[in-house]
This record gives sequence, structure tokens and C-alpha cells, in this order.
Amino acid sequence: MATKPSTKKVMFKKDLSAKDSSENTLPAEPSGELVIKTLAMPANTNVSGDIFGGWIVSQMDIGGGILAKQRAKSRAATVSIDKMIFRRPVHVGDMVSCYGKVTRVGRTSMTIEMTAWTRTIEDEVLHLVTEGVFTFVALDNKGKPHPVDRD
Ligand SMILES: CC(C)(COP(=O)(O)OP(=O)(O)OC[C@H]1O[C@@H](n2cnc3c(N)ncnc32)[C@H](O)[C@@H]1OP(=O)(O)O)[C@@H](O)C(=O)NCCC(=O)NCCS
Repeated sequence: MATKPSTKKVMFKKDLSAKDSSENTLPAEPSGELVIKTLAMPANTNVSGDIFGGWIVSQMDIGGGILAKQRAKSRAATVSIDKMIFRRPVHVGDMVSCYGKVTRVGRTSMTIEMTAWTRTIEDEVLHLVTEGVFTFVALDNKGKPHPVDRD
């Protein structure tokens, strides 16, 4: 039997427990393109039982890489990851969504701002969990940097 699509509205919530100086500038809802939507699995936990930060970074890196490849229309490699902030833990079973936007295009490099958000089935509220600034370099078929815009 076909299931009816959900008409429930998703709410967004900034992390009210954040205590750093950027507290007032936290985005209340995702911006940019949704590039990854996945589930936090037990295999990705750390010794405390929360989801390992490295797994979240890898999801954001994969998502940013998709945007970089789309923008450059070629291979792209991560050359740096800056300003990673882990604002709240991710738990097993959380739905994790990564959003990204290209904020700068250089000659061969691109800056992509990424955020990761979680949502539990129970509360249907999106929480900002992690953010970071990724730089990718457009690569030719030999793995050498080449211009992002090659027209
Ligand atoms: C990406 C890579 C090919 C770049 O080679 P490179 O010799 O540094 O190339 P360049 O010096 O010409 O720099 C290329 C661009 O990257 C930028 N860049 C280089 N190092 C950077 C850094 N640490 N942070 C930000 N940008 C950087 C340069 O400014 C340049 O940008 P522009 O062309 O827009 O001005 C090389 O560093 C590499 O292969 N790194 C490993 C990539 C990888 O394996 N990533 C996966 C993670 S394990």
C-alpha cells in the first residue's frame, strides 16, 4: 500500500547551549545546498558512545567535494579545512544533513562553507551541530591544479 507523504513542517533550532562569542550569529536554519543526508550509525561512535567527530568531518568533506566537482566540472581535492566548530554531539540514530555553499572561487581553488545539522525522529527539529570552511583545488586528469573556470 502506498504511504502518504508527510505534511509535517520541519522546524529549525539554533544551539542555545553554545557559549562562544559567535553565539548571536549562529544560523537558525540551513543555507546553501543540501548535499548529504544520512543516518548516524553505531559503527561511527567514539568511546563515549557519541558519534565520532571525524565521521562528521568526512561527511562534510564528501559533501563539499560534490559541490567543488560540480563547480569546477572536474576532479577536486581537499587542500585545507578551517574553523571547524563542533557545537553539540551527534547521537546514534540522528539524521544528519550536510549543507554547503561556494563562497569564493580563486584561480584553481574554491572555498566552501559547510554546516552539518541533525534531526531526531521524535522532535523533528533541526539542530546545527558542526560547521567548517573547506578549500578544494580543481584538478586535471593528471592530478595537477587547473583553473576552476576554463572557458
Ligand atoms: C591540492 C594540491 C594538488 C595542490 O597542490 P599545490 O602544489 O599546493 O598547488 P598550488 O600551490 O598551485 O595551489 C593551488 C591552489 O590551492 C591554494 N592552496 C594551497 N595550499 C592551501 C592551503 N593550505 N589553504 C588554502 N588554500 C591553499 C593556493 O592558494 C592555490 O589557489 P588559487 O589557484 O585559487 O590561487 C596538493 O596540495 C595535494 O595534492 N594535496 C593533497 C590533496 C589530498 O589528497 N586531499 C585529500 C585529503 S587526505
